[in-house]
Amino acid sequence: MALRTRILLILNSGCHPASENGETKPGSYVAFFHDRSKVLAWIRDSIAMFTAPAKKLTTAYYGKQPSNMYYVGCSTGGAQGFALAQYYPELFDGISASCPGNWYSHLMLSFLWNGENSALDGAFMRQDALDLITEAALDACDAIDGVKDRVIADPAKCTFDIKKLQCTDYQTPLVNNKTVCLTKPQIENADKFYAGPKDAQTGKELYPGFAPGSEGTWMYQESSLYLQYAVPILQNLVFRNLSYDYTTFNWDTDVDSLDEVASPLIDHISPNLEAFRKSGGRMIVTQGERI
Ligand SMILES: *[C@@H]1O[C@H](CO)[C@@H](O)[C@H](O)[C@H]1NC(C)=O
Ligand SMILES: *[C@@H]1O[C@H](CO)[C@@H](O)[C@H](O)[C@H]1NC(C)=O
Repeated sequence: MALRTRILLILNSGCHPASENGETKPGSYVAFFHDRSKVLAWIRDSIAMFTAPAKKLTTAYYGKQPSNMYYVGCSTGGAQGFALAQYYPELFDGISASCPGNWYSHLMLSFLWNGENSALDGAFMRQDALDLITEAALDACDAIDGVKDRVIADPAKCTFDIKKLQCTDYQTPLVNNKTVCLTKPQIENADKFYAGPKDAQTGKELYPGFAPGSEGTWMYQESSLYLQYAVPILQNLVFRNLSYDYTTFNWDTDVDSLDEVASPLIDHISPNLEAFRKSGGRMIVTQGERI
């Protein structure tokens, strides 16, 4: 029987610690953001750069060329999948792009939006508050599809009213250190999560918001993603000023700066993947944290 050799390049960028890029916290210098070719390599080019040598190694080892080439990646890796389909359409037969951050610049706006709003006075929601909201959303919307399985099949059909969770005048949010209802600033924060970031001048949606039922996974949005990703990109790549104060981010003009400087380097959002399709490529895109 002929040996069927397959190269499966598995890149698990979802688990790539930001610390490997240097110290990524507000005020720190992240070297690769200051080098155009490295920034382009980060999402657009790196997989293509090491695919040729990987193919050569595989061919040398098995004595024949691989019959199929597949790429699998999630998060930044999912963005790399979109970049491959757009810029290197003939490299892979199949691309699996999971939870792709391919509109990376505006994903940063989403991180910043959620992080900034959660830092407002009294707005932060503890994990048990987030879980309380998810349970209430599930109670309201799980059965819409006719199946009670603690899954909201189509969040767009869920008209869950979070205000029902607001503490009454006679309630305190914590009982025995357990969240039993939400304060007004918390409700406002959750509403902003659902709405997503908007341009302050035009009101235009800058990135989609979060669906009802997803609240239990918001903790990183509230506490760390904006500090680890959005702020270093603003300070190092967009404004080249480590003192840039992200708390004064202007949701009109600073969005324009981001679009102008970062978008051409880190976004891979062309709707035209015709070359990939013509070369016989197939792509699977999935979304969701729990798989
Ligand atoms: C209250 O609960 C929070 C979150 O579950 C926990 O971190 C904290 O230690 C608790 N505080 C007390 C006094 O038990
Ligand atoms: C860097 O940002 C700080 C804080 O916003 C500002 O005061 C300073 O003028 C900026 N520096 C430059 C060179 O633009």
